[in-house]
Order: sequence, then structure tokens, then C-alpha cells
Amino acid sequence: MLYAVRSARLVEVLGAANDVVAPLRVLDAGCGQGLFARTLGSFGHTVDGIDTSTYAIDVCRELAGPSESYEMSALVDWQPSHLYDAVLSIDVLYHLMDDDEWASSVENLASLVRLGGLIGLVDHDADVARVWAEYQKTRPTNQYRDLLSGCGFEMRRSVRNDFRTDPSIMHVAVRVA
Ligand SMILES: C[S@@+](CC[C@H](N)C(=O)[O-])C[C@H]1O[C@@H](n2cnc3c(N)ncnc32)[C@H](O)[C@@H]1O
Repeated sequence: MLYAVRSARLVEVLGAANDVVAPLRVLDAGCGQGLFARTLGSFGHTVDGIDTSTYAIDVCRELAGPSESYEMSALVDWQPSHLYDAVLSIDVLYHLMDDDEWASSVENLASLVRLGGLIGLVDHDADVARVWAEYQKTRPTNQYRDLLSGCGFEMRRSVRNDFRTDPSIMHVAVRVA
């Protein structure tokens, strides 16, 4: 159910256009086994998915639709030969425990968005950073705002899933410089 709700939120964020001649080019950064990437591909978008898990990328490649492409890469390392209309990272950044890697990852993803394109980054809806476990550190909205602003982005929306007690939020920003 959460995936269904979140997929609908992605339509809100990306818009309803799905031009066959000029599809949106989308990066799903930290795509896992590709549930969102495949959904976006099924909407007619051209999707690149990256992840550090060999297993996840193998699953994605096995199930990939015709407009999807998957590569093993960390967020911080991905250097494609093109820019994206939209870069999404869903439930990934709060698994980066190292603050420098987190910041460099956000900056690298931001650099891959074309002028006028958007970035959507999921974290918790919170005012302060918090370490939850060895593998989870959430960071506050103002840290995303400051970092993205330095990369030429304006924050536009904070999209909540409004599903049960889900604490996550997608920070949506548009590249203006
Ligand atoms: C909770 S899963 C989310 C997967 C997918 N985005 C989703 O929402 O279904 C987190 C994923 O992030 C990947 N990951 C963790 N650190 C990463 C990094 N630095 N670069 C790329 N992927 C990473 C993991 O391998 C895992 O597949």
C-alpha cells in the first residue's frame, strides 16, 4: 500500500506528462530492486537506476522494461554522459552515516539535474539530525535546503505520503542556476 501511495506522490511531483517523442529522463538513485524505477518506466519515462547492491541491480536488470537501464554505482560516483529532467532518491540518503559522503552525494546528484529540472530527496520530516541505528541517520530539512541552495536549487515543496505513521518526506527542489 505504501508503494502505491508513494507512486501516486511521484506522479504529483513529476507531473502527468508522458510524451512518447520526448520522455522525461529520470534517475532513480539508490533504486533498490527497482519498484519505483519500473513504475516510472511504465509511465513512459526513460529511467536510469543506480545502486551499490549487486543483487538489487541483477534483479532490476532481469525485470527491466525497455526504457530502463541499471548500473552499479554509489550516489557520489555516478557520472553519466547526460543530465536528467528529474533525479529522485527514495529512502537512501538516511542510510549514509558519514556526513561528508551524505553532502557529496547530494551535491553530485544535484549536479546531474538540467536547468529547470527537479530533484526529489527523501528523508524524515524533522528539525534536527538524529541517529537511529548503526545504519540510519536522518537529517533536517534546513540541511537539505542549504546544500541544495548552494547547488543552484530553490526548494519548492515538501511532499508527505500521509500514510499511517510514515515519517518520511520528499524535499522537492528545482534547478534555477
Ligand atoms: C531502503 S532501500 C530503498 C530502495 C528504493 N529506493 C525503494 O525505495 O524501494 C535503500 C537502497 O539504497 C542502496 N544504497 C545505500 N547506500 C547507497 C549509496 N551510497 N549509493 C547508492 N545506493 C545506495 C541500498 O543498496 C538499497 O538498495
